[in-house]
Amino acid sequence: MSESIFIKHAAQLVTVSGHTENPAKRDGMRELNCIEDGALLATDGKIIAVGTTEGIQTEYKNEINQAKQINASGKVVSPGLIDPHTHLVHAGTRENEYAMRLKGKTYMDIMNQGGGIHATTRATQQADVDQLYQESKQRLDTFLVNGVTTVEAKSGYGLTTEHEIKQLEVSQHLNENHVMDIVSTFMGAHAVPVEEKANPDAFVDRVISEMIPEVAKRKLAQFNDVFCERGVFTPEQSRRILEAGKEFGLIPKIHADEIEPYGGAELAAAVGAVSADHLLKASDEGIRQMADQDVIGVLLPGTAFFLMAEFAQARKMIDQGLAVALSTDANPGSSPTLSLQFIMNLGCLKMGMTPEEVITATTINAAHAIGRANQIGSLEIGKQADITIFDVPNYLTLSYQYGMNHVDTVIKCGQVVVE
Ligand code: NIG
Ligand code: FE
Repeated sequence: MSESIFIKHAAQLVTVSGHTENPAKRDGMRELNCIEDGALLATDGKIIAVGTTEGIQTEYKNEINQAKQINASGKVVSPGLIDPHTHLVHAGTRENEYAMRLKGKTYMDIMNQGGGIHATTRATQQADVDQLYQESKQRLDTFLVNGVTTVEAKSGYGLTTEHEIKQLEVSQHLNENHVMDIVSTFMGAHAVPVEEKANPDAFVDRVISEMIPEVAKRKLAQFNDVFCERGVFTPEQSRRILEAGKEFGLIPKIHADEIEPYGGAELAAAVGAVSADHLLKASDEGIRQMADQDVIGVLLPGTAFFLMAEFAQARKMIDQGLAVALSTDANPGSSPTLSLQFIMNLGCLKMGMTPEEVITATTINAAHAIGRANQIGSLEIGKQADITIFDVPNYLTLSYQYGMNHVDTVIKCGQVVVE
């Protein structure tokens, strides 16, 4: 027997419809296509009707009689939030480095002295699969409770073929066993291992000749990401790695222009990346090239907040025609948070985005940034019934009452998973 769910009387049903083909840009980012006294009917995990409560009740009487009913009166119903950039699978925490940074050390100083990404790499290499699985599962549970129904997850704390694969296999198992959908990205080029500092090109060669083919053969990732930053990987090394991934069907993503302007945005446009992420220091020319090539800018204001850096210029980027998505960048060094709602608050308060834009940026544009816009990211007929209900009277309140979890109910593939 088919299983249905009927959500009715939403104060606002935020559909974010109309951007499945192409990411929302400019004014499109502010069109939420909200329905008052909204309702949604889903059967077997798929949305079959969206409209007003009265309209759907009249048209689908029989189906509604058999459906599980959810009264969303006084609440906001939105597409399940999507986090398109996380470092989900890793071992341990780095609060010691946080304390060092509060005394004046920089993120890059700590990394160059063998801490930072290297510290988490040591912990992740030492961790067995079960420990990694359990730690990451807890994070997924927290994401879900905070309204997120799909996350992207990167490797990059293994830095050897064996340990990169271990991380990606943990993501794969979590994707199979947890209600959360996980989209995997290979990020072997997250740092040059400490022991190989003297010859970074040899490491780049190994990423290309050994890791990428093995990851592709095992079908462990859909995307290929590189930390393109002075002192980490140069634009030329990054280009080689991303082009090599393309040969194996891995779609490029880039950690671009996070700490210094370094041509990462330009490189993203040149290699046809689906997204360039961070962009705190991206050049105007780089942003223009990204907009021209339809590369999505994934902005991570939690990282600027936590590293006490300047925020990316989201307002200017959106006005220049860049499609923007938002993400936590969840990781133990530069953004130890699992709250995408807080990131939405920061988007408004620190990057000049509107409350409408931050919703688009965490739903349909985030879906585009992970190649899933035809399945998720909006409440439209035929899409997966991934839905978050917020206990707020209107969507403005989501970014107004900040630092809180407003989630009331989470529905994944038509099933209530948080209530
Ligand atoms: O996106 N910038 C590089 N990678 C992560 C940080 C990883 C870490 O510090 O462990 C980021 O900020
Ligand atoms: Fe990151």
